[in-house]
Amino acid sequence: MIIQPRTRGFICLTAHPEGAAENIKNQIVYVKSKGEIKNGPKKVLVIGASTGFGIASRISAAFGSGAATIGVFFEKPASEGKLGTAGWYNSAAFEKEAHAAGLYAKSINGDAFSDEIKKQTIDLIHKDLGQVDLVIYSLASPRRTHPKTGVQHASVLKPIDKPFTDKTVDFHSGVVSDISIQPVDSEDDIKNTVAVMGGEDWKFWIEDLKEAGVLADGVKTVAYSYIGPELTYPIYRNGTIGRAKDDLEGTVPAINDLLKDLNGVSYVSVNKALVTQSSSAIPVVPLYISLLYKVMKEKGIHEGTIEQMQRLFAERLYIDGEIPLDEKGRIRVDDLEMREDVQAEVAKLWEQATTENLEEISDIQGYRDDFFQLFGFNFDAIDYNKDTSELVQVPSLA
Ligand code: NAI
Ligand code: NA
Repeated sequence: MIIQPRTRGFICLTAHPEGAAENIKNQIVYVKSKGEIKNGPKKVLVIGASTGFGIASRISAAFGSGAATIGVFFEKPASEGKLGTAGWYNSAAFEKEAHAAGLYAKSINGDAFSDEIKKQTIDLIHKDLGQVDLVIYSLASPRRTHPKTGVQHASVLKPIDKPFTDKTVDFHSGVVSDISIQPVDSEDDIKNTVAVMGGEDWKFWIEDLKEAGVLADGVKTVAYSYIGPELTYPIYRNGTIGRAKDDLEGTVPAINDLLKDLNGVSYVSVNKALVTQSSSAIPVVPLYISLLYKVMKEKGIHEGTIEQMQRLFAERLYIDGEIPLDEKGRIRVDDLEMREDVQAEVAKLWEQATTENLEEISDIQGYRDDFFQLFGFNFDAIDYNKDTSELVQVPSLA
């Protein structure tokens, strides 16, 4: 089968298994190049492990400190004549590399919000690892079926008080236009978004893991958040998704209470804006990212998901002494993005950006490259005109 990218809006409908494997290999090479993460994690559960920050976390743990990893994700498997999703191929490639390096790696494909998948995960930890010493929570989903009520919640990306109008870009065509987004219809939009992307499910996971006795003494758990610049506040941090992030961050004390007798601790890490399947769905943000990339690359401080996660592990989570936190107790690896000089330049470019000057003043090409690479396309090492065997299975799906 010849596999080419096929897109609909911000979604790519196809994924390339060998390209995905190339993506994973590149990330492994990077992590190895940074050397061993001293006193790093040894047994790790990653929830949301197949793409974006989750797969980068899994790679950092496995290839940075030799960790055994269990990954939970929700992906479409490859089957006879049918392509799987990118996260499926990423996970197959990751496991192949991990096993070749003598590392334990198994995966669970299913709905992480459900009690059933939590139970399967706990059984697997019991059977194979005994306990885990790090739990990464990296889910990004548009919906959640609540395990206790059965209610299906759908998240929305909306401002809260009033309509928001600003620039946005169609990153395929490079057309910059104004977009107006209507505010929430009712409190329900906020509640539903908080139900999907807030902290309740993270807490449910930790409660169940603790109850089952599969958390090691001194366990750490980390979930990911975003703040970003003022120009995206109406749609991001002060919008419905921001309320969910407030809720996620607000769950830290409750999880710390749960972990106290295990000498465990929970953190939220605020990460940099990056091209992932989730962020490409947010209006306004792709234009911001393409300007941000331009500025950060020029200054030599650009990072992708793997650079971010390797740094989170090596320079925040596993250092001697105290972990540096902001005034709200959060880990910050968005420090370079939020630097004043960076933000000042992005704000200036934001004012100038038009369809006509976009290629010149932004890194829209870098955005596109990253987007297609998420799906295994755009790698020099891969011959996309060559037949590829589409049947790639995750070797040790639990
Ligand atoms: P992503 O879309 O690349 O990854 C989402 C992961 O969640 C995938 O592994 C997917 O399989 C899994 N997933 C989704 N629904 C699931 C379900 N029901 N059951 C099991 N697994 C499920 O997203 P990304 O961007 O890596 O986001 C991860 C976290 O990082 C999110 O909390 C996001 O808000 C946060 N973040 C993202 C930033 C960005 O710019 N992309 C910036 C800062 C934080
Ligand atoms: Na992720």
